[in-house]
Amino acid sequence: MIEFKNFSFKYKNGEKNALSGINLKLNKGDFVGVIGNSGAGKSTFTYAVNGVIPHHFEGDFFGEVIVKGIDTVESSPSELALSVGSVFQDIDGQMVSSVVEDELLFGLENFGVPHEEIEARITDILEMVGIEDLRYRNISTLSGGQKQKVAICAVVSLMPDILVLDEPTAELDPQSSHQIFSMLRMLNEKMGITIIVVEQKIMLLSEFSKRLLIFNEGSIYLDGSPQEVLKDTYKLQDIGVNCPRVASLANALAERKLYEGEVPVNIDDAEVMVRNIIK
Ligand SMILES: Nc1ncnc2c1ncn2[C@@H]1O[C@H](COP(=O)(O)OP(=O)(O)OP(=O)(O)O)[C@@H](O)[C@H]1O
Ligand SMILES: [Mg+2]
Repeated sequence: MIEFKNFSFKYKNGEKNALSGINLKLNKGDFVGVIGNSGAGKSTFTYAVNGVIPHHFEGDFFGEVIVKGIDTVESSPSELALSVGSVFQDIDGQMVSSVVEDELLFGLENFGVPHEEIEARITDILEMVGIEDLRYRNISTLSGGQKQKVAICAVVSLMPDILVLDEPTAELDPQSSHQIFSMLRMLNEKMGITIIVVEQKIMLLSEFSKRLLIFNEGSIYLDGSPQEVLKDTYKLQDIGVNCPRVASLANALAERKLYEGEVPVNIDDAEVMVRNIIK
């Protein structure tokens, strides 16, 4: 569904490549988590998927990025926007209306969704996400988590096949962050939307992602299921990424030959692991 072929990109004013030699295939229906240090190239990666690169940022573009069979260099930003919905790091900058309903209306009208369909789209998505009560609220009065949900609803109401989010929980507390990821999982499972999400909280990524990409200095450092990627605590430490505690525990136990199963990616699995060892 998304393919990177030997892709590299250097921003016009950049000193070195922001991304280098990216080869990657992402499948339809995937839930891909992206993590890595500041400056590793995560945002640049999202820009390459949604066409912000090369259509907004100038620079040296090598290789190819194919999204749903379309070469992003040859497509127009509006053509890509039909397939790829984006939630940027700065959601306040992304929102254009003052009232929640208008924010959704704006996108739907801009996309030329027929008028008789619009009402159903708005009700359905707000209901699905459980924020019908926010419909007539002023966006400036919403909490960070509520705003984030509205931003995601506005994009999802346009029915993209792919949803790209850059640090959607950066300003949220643990509980709201968890809610956002539960919402993404629901969109992934119920609507079949392919999710690509950049996130600093590794525990959230390990719990919700089907595939984890770890970026380091413009390259993909590790790529696999959370269980595969998290089984070497030291490899992650080497590039300054913290392993979730449940995975570090499993790795430490494995090192002492006390455990040899899969790395747990959530508390429940960790509990099963510990109970079995005690037994
Ligand atoms: N507009 C730009 N012009 C020049 N260089 C840029 C630009 N945007 C990013 N870069 C550079 O490209 C590299 C990758 O940046 P990117 O924003 O993709 O990193 P990131 O992993 O998203 O970091 P963060 O976690 O801080 O958001 C960095 O070296 C950065 O300085
Ligand atoms: Mg970034």
